[in-house]
Amino acid sequence: MIRKAVIPAAGFGTRFLPATKCSPKEMLPIVDTPVIQYVVEEAVASGITDILMVIGRGKRAIEEHFDRSAELEWELEAKGKLDQLRQIRRISELANIHFVWQKRMLGLGDAIRCAEAHVGDEPFAVLLGDTLLQSTSGVPAVKQLIDAYEATKTSVVAVEAVTPEKVSKYGVIAGEPEKDIGDGKIWRVDDLVEKPAPEEAPSNYAIASRYVLTPDVFAALHDVRPGKGGEIQLTDALRLLAHASPIHARIIDAVRHDVGNHMGFIKTNIIYGLLRPDLRDTLAAFIKETAKDL
Ligand code: UTP
Repeated sequence: MIRKAVIPAAGFGTRFLPATKCSPKEMLPIVDTPVIQYVVEEAVASGITDILMVIGRGKRAIEEHFDRSAELEWELEAKGKLDQLRQIRRISELANIHFVWQKRMLGLGDAIRCAEAHVGDEPFAVLLGDTLLQSTSGVPAVKQLIDAYEATKTSVVAVEAVTPEKVSKYGVIAGEPEKDIGDGKIWRVDDLVEKPAPEEAPSNYAIASRYVLTPDVFAALHDVRPGKGGEIQLTDALRLLAHASPIHARIIDAVRHDVGNHMGFIKTNIIYGLLRPDLRDTLAAFIKETAKDL
């Protein structure tokens, strides 16, 4: 059973400056809720009870968001704003949340390395703190991976099909559908390449910001050298693992929303705004009216 998750949230967020100069990009709001809260809710809905967030300088707001806020609670109670009070309390009761500091931002692989002591000798989930996966099947994305782990007992990465011009933004897998499990949605991974040029991409399946990893990933993370961008890449460590023992990918039934870039942020706000019953009609009317002048 997988009960622990790691949420890396220490990166500089340079694609979203100046907003991220001293505020975490993981706290960017989608309508009125920080991205990282949706990520925690996905983990909790998938059966995770213990969450380790990897944070760094300028990321204290994340700690405070998941802590109790006694003064705010008194204020809401005194004013009879009981719905908001419930909402605020629920955030701090979602899961057991722990924090570890990444001292130098050496990349996603290094952020996962910071989780080694906390995770210990058990498989764990990884959810990037700046990306939402909107399930299209009703099953939370990371739960789909946990189920694939139960079927394969290996590390499993989420993948989604992307267009050729997008492969160079992500890690890309090479492999084959695994026979007899997962209805063609679980692939055996033979190789992974971080941000390949379109003509070098081994497939159009890109890693989609969710993973279930077995603890042998830590040894691989200690062995990898800095890769693309001089960073310790998780994809490179998974590549070492894939060459030594089986690992799998799950073609995920979900749409990825990467909130840490301009268009991703704006689009995700519109999509999630249109899902809100209290906003849907006015937002749709505004979009139609604005589109007339484009
Ligand atoms: P990104 O590569 O999207 O984040 O990492 P970044 O480096 O902050 O973004 P840009 O490119 O400068 O805009 C995906 C996730 O991994 C975390 C980030 O916080 C983000 O949630 N991360 C990345 C770390 O925790 N540590 C790192 O060293 C790098």
